Amino acid sequence: MLEFHGAEHIDQERLKNDAMTGLTAPAASLPPKFFYDELGSKLFEAITALPEYQVTRLETDLVSKELGALSRIIPQHACLVDLGAGNCQKAVRWFDTIHPSVYLAMDIAVGFMRPCLQKLAEGHPEIRVVGLGTDFASEFPHATVNRINIAAAPVVYFYPGSSIGNFSPESAQAFLAGLRQTPRFAGLLIGVDLLKPEKELVAAYDDPLGVTASFNKNILLHLNRLLGADFVLENWQHVALFDSFHGRIEMHLESRVEQSVTWQGGGHRKFQRAARIHTENSYKYDLQSFADLLLRAGYSVKKTVSSSASGVALYWAT
Ligand SMILES: C[S@@+](CC[C@H](N)C(=O)[O-])C[C@H]1O[C@@H](n2cnc3c(N)ncnc32)[C@H](O)[C@@H]1O
Repeated sequence: MLEFHGAEHIDQERLKNDAMTGLTAPAASLPPKFFYDELGSKLFEAITALPEYQVTRLETDLVSKELGALSRIIPQHACLVDLGAGNCQKAVRWFDTIHPSVYLAMDIAVGFMRPCLQKLAEGHPEIRVVGLGTDFASEFPHATVNRINIAAAPVVYFYPGSSIGNFSPESAQAFLAGLRQTPRFAGLLIGVDLLKPEKELVAAYDDPLGVTASFNKNILLHLNRLLGADFVLENWQHVALFDSFHGRIEMHLESRVEQSVTWQGGGHRKFQRAARIHTENSYKYDLQSFADLLLRAGYSVKKTVSSSASGVALYWAT
């Protein structure tokens, strides 16, 4: 049976404030969490099927290859906490090898996660399946874990999909260090997208079908609903670029015209032609630089596995 604690813990006022603060900042920006309304979550699933977007495929293949070796060192019967679980498909693969007693899926996209989790719970009656709506920006995962009683199970975090790349290295370090504050913390299994030639990186965020462009622009539809804003999608174009100084992909929405956008409560912003809203950073690492980050966050890296051609890496760190 599924236990689900949905949107009631997601502070809607805080979400609106975050959006308005970003829109009115001197360099307008929006945190990537605003991508993930229901349509955005479906568009992200479509992105993972694109030939140009390799992260999901490579990570899935890597897990298949290393499942046996990793399962021997990850605690059995743990509470498996899936951070940004999405459609929950990646965690399922661990169920028959590490036999979690509790599967705790956390995500801001509660409407999208719920039916995925319902199906999963029906297929795994032996596991206590819990869904928690949360915004990592307003509640640290270790505090969220405390919302349910997980008895004496060790806690194993699973953070796949290179979502950690959305944080700056400094914020990633603080976020990962925070996880270690969880009572009975046992370890973290985390997936990271590795640095590769610029052409490959940019193609993954600017596919010829325009799926990633739609995913990016959908953030404006989300804000139109959330803030009662009047973004006109035709007035914006998708931009993806690689910033080699920071080692990150950036996504922006660029204004095609001079325009004004307004939202509820008298909020407004004027955008010149070619002005941008920065919507995502996705930091890429090499194997050693991410291991160093884990070390700075207080972890000891027990095992690192990576796909061939420096695609993605998985770290088990305690
Ligand atoms: C890149 S997707 C990864 C989904 C899935 N774990 C995978 O690897 O395919 C990022 C996930 O994190 C969730 N997410 C993004 N920002 C969040 C936030 N601030 N708090 C909680 N969840 C968030 C999104 O809704 C989405 O499901």
